[in-house]
Amino acid sequence: MIQPRKVVMPNPSPRAVPNQINPPQRLLMGPGPINADPRVLRAMSAQLLGQYDPAMTSYMNETMELYREVFRTENEATVLIDGTSRAGIEAALVSLIEPGDRVLVPIFGRFGHLLREIAERCGAEVHVIEREWGTVFTPGEIEAAIDKVAPKLLAVVHGDTSTTVAQPLDELGAICAKHGVLLYTDATASLGGNTFELDAWGIDVATAGLQKCLGGPSGSAPISLSARAVDVINSRKSIEAGIRVEGDAVSSSPIRSNYFDLAMILDYWGPKRLNHHTEATTMLFGSRECARLLVEEGLPQAVERHRLHGAAMATGLSALGLELFGDQNYKMNNVVGVEIPDGIDGDAGRAAMLNDYGIEIGTSFGPLHGRVWRIGTMGYNARRDTVLLTLAALEQMLRRGGVSVTGGSGVGAALDFYESEGDAA
Ligand SMILES: Cc1ncc(COP(=O)(O)O)c(C=O)c1O
Repeated sequence: MIQPRKVVMPNPSPRAVPNQINPPQRLLMGPGPINADPRVLRAMSAQLLGQYDPAMTSYMNETMELYREVFRTENEATVLIDGTSRAGIEAALVSLIEPGDRVLVPIFGRFGHLLREIAERCGAEVHVIEREWGTVFTPGEIEAAIDKVAPKLLAVVHGDTSTTVAQPLDELGAICAKHGVLLYTDATASLGGNTFELDAWGIDVATAGLQKCLGGPSGSAPISLSARAVDVINSRKSIEAGIRVEGDAVSSSPIRSNYFDLAMILDYWGPKRLNHHTEATTMLFGSRECARLLVEEGLPQAVERHRLHGAAMATGLSALGLELFGDQNYKMNNVVGVEIPDGIDGDAGRAAMLNDYGIEIGTSFGPLHGRVWRIGTMGYNARRDTVLLTLAALEQMLRRGGVSVTGGSGVGAALDFYESEGDAA
C-alpha cells in the first residue's frame, strides 16, 4: 500500500551559521602562498567529473604532458600528488626508501631539516651535512659526503625558502650517477621562477607545489620520476587487496604508506587506471591551469620575469638602507631576505604592513626569526606594480618605526633599475 507522504515543515528556528567566505583584500608578498592567478581560480570553479570520465582522464593526460614541460623532462612518470608540497616530498621519500636504507641530506635551511625528518620516519639511516643558513654547499663537499656515507639516496632542497638561497644542482646528477646514488630534490619554491632542468641535470625525482612561482593555491604537488626511480619503486609494488587480481604484485617489503604509494599512484595515472584515491578534481583543474600559464609564457621567459622583478625588489630594499640576507650569488629569483633594522620589532612591522596597506611580508624560522623578513615576488605577483607598491609601503612603515630613510629612495631605485633593464612602464 502506498504510504501518505510525510510533510516536512520549514525549520521554525533556522540555525545561525557563519557568514559566507569573503576574505579581506591582501597583496601576498611573502615567501608563499601568493595571490593565485585569476585564471587558476576560474579553472577551479568548473563543475566536477567522474574519475574515469574520458574528459577527466584526458585532462589528467594533458596535465602530465604540461608538467613534463614545466619540469623540463621526458619522464613518463610525471603526475600530481593530492596534498600540499609536503605530500609530494613524503610520497617520493616513502616510496624510494626502504627501512634501513642510507640517505644523505645536505641541510642549509629549514626544509633540509624537513627532508631529514621525513626520511627518518621512513626508517632510513639518515646522515646529514650542515652549512650555515644563507650559504650553500659546493659540489665537492657533497661528493666527499657521498664518498664517506655511500647512500642509496641523496635528498636535497633546491631553493630553501627559509634562507632565500638555492643550492646549485647542475653538477649533482653526474656525481650521483658516478656513485650509483639516486638524486631527489624538493623544488617547491624554485620551480617556474628559477632555472630548473630535470633531465639535463640528471635528477631522478623532483617534487613541487603550486603556491610559489606556479601562481596557484597549495594543495597539489607535481612530481616527476626518472625510469630508474620508477624501477626502484616498482620493485616493491604491492597491489592492495580488493582490487588485486591473480598475478598482481604483492611485495614482501611494501611501501610503508598506502596513500603515498607511488607504485599504485603511477598505475592510477597510467594506462591501467588502477583505482587508488579519488583524484582531487578541482585541484587538478587548478594545477593544469598553473602549468598552462607557464608553458604559454615560456619557461625561460617566466624565469626571466622572476629574475627581473626579484632584482628590482632587492635593489629597492638596498636603497631603503636595508641589508640583504644570505649569499647573494645564490639568491633565489623569487624571494629576498632583509635584516630587520635596529629598533624595529619584526612582527609589529609586518602587522603594520598588513593593517595599513593590506600587504603581507614574511617572517622567518629558527635562528632567523625576529632578525630577517622575507619578501617574495613570485607567480602572479612577480610584477612591477606589486614591487613598487610594496617598496612604497615599506618606506612609510620604516619611517614610522623611527628608521631614517630618504623619501622615495626605494621606489626610485627600483624604477631606475627597471629603466636600466629596458623595462618600460
Ligand atoms: C622549499 C619548501 N619545501 C617544502 C615546503 C612545504 O610546502 P607545503 O606547505 O605546501 O607542504 C615549503 C613551503 O613553504 C617550501 O618552501
